[in-house]
This record gives sequence, C-alpha cells and structure tokens, in this order.
Amino acid sequence: MLVLGIETSCDETAAAVVRDDRAILADVVLSQLDEHRPYGGIVPEIAARSHLDHVDRLVVEALQRSGTTLAAVDAIAATGGPGLIGGIIVGVTTAKAIAAVAGKPFVAVNHLEGHALTARLTDGLEFPYLLLLVSGGHCQLLAVQGVGSYARLGATIDDAAGEAFDKVAKMLGLGYPGGPAVQRAAAVGDAGRFALPRPMKGRPGCDFSFSGLKNAVRLLLAQRLEAGHGTLAEADRVDIAAAFQLAVAESIADRTRAALRLFAQRHPGADRLVVAGGVAANAQLRATLAELAAAHGFQLVAPPLRLCTDNAAMIAWAGLERFRLGQQDGLDFAPRPRWPLDPTATRLRGAGVKA
Ligand code: KG4
Ligand code: ZN
Repeated sequence: MLVLGIETSCDETAAAVVRDDRAILADVVLSQLDEHRPYGGIVPEIAARSHLDHVDRLVVEALQRSGTTLAAVDAIAATGGPGLIGGIIVGVTTAKAIAAVAGKPFVAVNHLEGHALTARLTDGLEFPYLLLLVSGGHCQLLAVQGVGSYARLGATIDDAAGEAFDKVAKMLGLGYPGGPAVQRAAAVGDAGRFALPRPMKGRPGCDFSFSGLKNAVRLLLAQRLEAGHGTLAEADRVDIAAAFQLAVAESIADRTRAALRLFAQRHPGADRLVVAGGVAANAQLRATLAELAAAHGFQLVAPPLRLCTDNAAMIAWAGLERFRLGQQDGLDFAPRPRWPLDPTATRLRGAGVKA
C-alpha cells in the first residue's frame, strides 16, 4: 500500500510517499524560514501564499523521487488541521483535486496524529506509548493508545515550549528561530548564576506553562540592562540563556514525570516514552528526559530530527494507518484550524494554545 501525503499547516511545505512496510520512498520539505525571518516569527499570510507557490512542484518532485506514479498510489492524505487555516486550505484543496482527478480516496489527517504516529513509522512501536510533543506550535503529553485513540494527559495553558524559546531568544537578541540560538548561547553560559522559576513544578496534573518563566526572564534582563547602563554584557546574555534552558528542561521533566506515573498506572507493562517536535532537538532536554525515562523503567524513543519536525512523511503515514483501517474522508471535508486529538480533554484557553 502506497500513500501520498501533503503538509501545509505551518511554515513547511512538504510532500512525501510512504509504503505500508514503513519505507519512506520520498520525503521533500521546503522550509519558509527565510521568508519569515525578517518578521521574527511566522506571518500567516506569507505562509499561505508560499504554500500555494510551491505545493504543486513539491508533489511532483515527491512522486518523481519515489520512483512510483500517481496511478500506483492508493490514497492521498493531507493535513486537515489544526494549524494556520490559509495553509491548510491550500494543502487540503490540492489533495482533494489530485484525489478527484486520479480517482483515489482522500484522507484528512490531524497534524498532531501525524506527530503521534511517527514513532510507528520510524521505530515500529506498538501501542500504547506516551508521547511528549514539544514544538513551536504544540506542547502536550498524550497517551497514544491506537489509531484515532488518544488521551491528553497534559498541555500548555499558555505558550508552547518552542514559542518560549523563540520569544526569549528575541529578548536576548539571539535571532530566529530561537531554540538553536539559545542552545548555542547556553552551551557557554553558567546555568547556576541566575535563579529562574520552574513553572508548574510539583503541581497536580501534567499541564505546562511558560509565560511566567518568560516574564521572569524579561525582569532579569531589565535588571541586567540597568546594571550595564543599557547594554547587556555577553556573560549576562549567555548565563540567562543557560538558566532559561535549564528551567525549561526541568519544568518539562517534572510534567513528564507526572505523566509517566499516570500512564504507567493506566497501561501496566508499557515502557516507551516518545519525544517529538522541534524542541526535541534540544540536547539538554533530551539528556534530562532519557534520565527520567530510565528512572521509571522506560526507554526514550526520539525519531530522527527531520521526522520530529514538520514533514509530510508523518502525514502520509498517519493517512496510511487510517486508510488501512478502512477510514477515509469525503471531498466535502472542511479544514479545521482547531482539532483536538482527544475530544474529551478540557478546552484550554491561552494566548498560544493551538489545540
Ligand atoms: O516542530 P517544529 O519544527 O515546528 C513547529 O513548531 O511545528 O518546531 C520548531 C520549534 C521552534 O520554536 C524552535 O525554536 C524550536 O522548535 N527548536 C528548539 C531547538 N531547535 C528547534 N528549541 C530548543 N532547542 C533546540 N535545539
Ligand atoms: Zn508540528
């Protein structure tokens, strides 16, 4: 079975072809980073226009690289949400048009389900497992129980973890995207010089919060600027970056610890913790999580980075998993800017809450 997947819900335009034996036949990703960089963040209108400019070419390229043809593909999958609506419309419309012309089934995929099932594509994981999804747009802990079956154990009540990295990087004058820049600065900084809060640490439940930490960084920065008569000493910059990175890692570890306990109670014998999303690239976070997983008798599974960040292979794969269970969508499917994976989870309301 072969599935063509299309991803356009954020700032990557991507197309991929995957096979049911877990082979990725083609996986092309075009990042819009350079187009958004001057604005220090993603501009939805620019993103939608850019998806429109490139998606057709990327689909053709993916098919060519896969060594297969559209006629041999069994289904066309596209991200149907959640995300930036302009981009989702572009991907969904493209997929529907291809499906209609080629006479193939169309499968609308929840972007979060794409992230959630990636570990089955890369590592052949069995259900259930615990997923920590930490990116610029998402920050949640999910019990992945089966295709279409997810229990949200926790989520951010304000910013996503990657968003916090990006905002702090901006404050520190470190550029965009912030995560890699903060990590580089932190590598030469002293994480122990400044004390920053560990948001939500020890609280009941598994929710995340980063806005208080972000504010603490803002106050600390103002203080150091005053001490430097308006200029930030390089030592201050890297020490703040290091303190922030440590605070995020410890805060995420605390929330994940609570989720591991809950998950282990509900699913005795399950022993895999999967981390996905761009923030999973953070070395300090990975080390902290590996230690935490081991202490709970779990193994940390981190898919290769290019499959942790937004891509179309995960969309094609999630589409394939749904399609082989007999699921597909009509051409009247309406793009969904909000689309929680766990419909029973309480709706969170915060500035940066995406799903
Ligand atoms: O998954 P992703 O590529 O896109 C979505 O947001 O869906 O994640 C991008 C996010 C950005 O916020 C970026 O700053 C963060 O991941 N990031 C990192 C690192 N590399 C990327 N955060 C911390 N440390 C890193 N090394
Ligand atoms: Zn994503």
